[in-house]
Amino acid sequence: MGTKRIRIGRAAALVVLLGGAAASVAAARPEPPGVVMYKSALCGCCGKWASHLRTAGFRVVVRDVGDLLGIEARYGVPKGLGSCHTALAGGYVVVGHVPADLLARLLRERPPVAGISVPGMPGGAPGMEGGVGGSYRIVAFDRDGHTSVYATR
Ligand code: CU
Ligand code: CU
Repeated sequence: MGTKRIRIGRAAALVVLLGGAAASVAAARPEPPGVVMYKSALCGCCGKWASHLRTAGFRVVVRDVGDLLGIEARYGVPKGLGSCHTALAGGYVVVGHVPADLLARLLRERPPVAGISVPGMPGGAPGMEGGVGGSYRIVAFDRDGHTSVYATR
């Protein structure tokens, strides 16, 4: 198997993965970065955000946790930037109802930040439709807790 990476369909990639021996699995091309989302079992809007990401082509693994604040602390989410779910994607921490196109941009451009957040639960953000939609900010943060506006919607 050559090392040249070509774009093939996800289903085909899966067949390659499942059909290959252990050695070729190790050498297989990396999947596009998936998203692991930690959320409270009681939260419904989190599932809507996962659907929003899946519609945009992301693979999303959902993990219900009892201690979301513990997850935020573990991954360095600054105070005030928390939301109903915290996700990991491509080495970044992604908090709250971040639009899929901005997550894609983050993973494409790979800025030197620890992650991005849509703090709280603003109406109109992906997964929060149906309420009063207003403007909201997507905030970037680094490991020292410094924040900056990544985008505005
Ligand atoms: Cu939510
Ligand atoms: Cu949520």
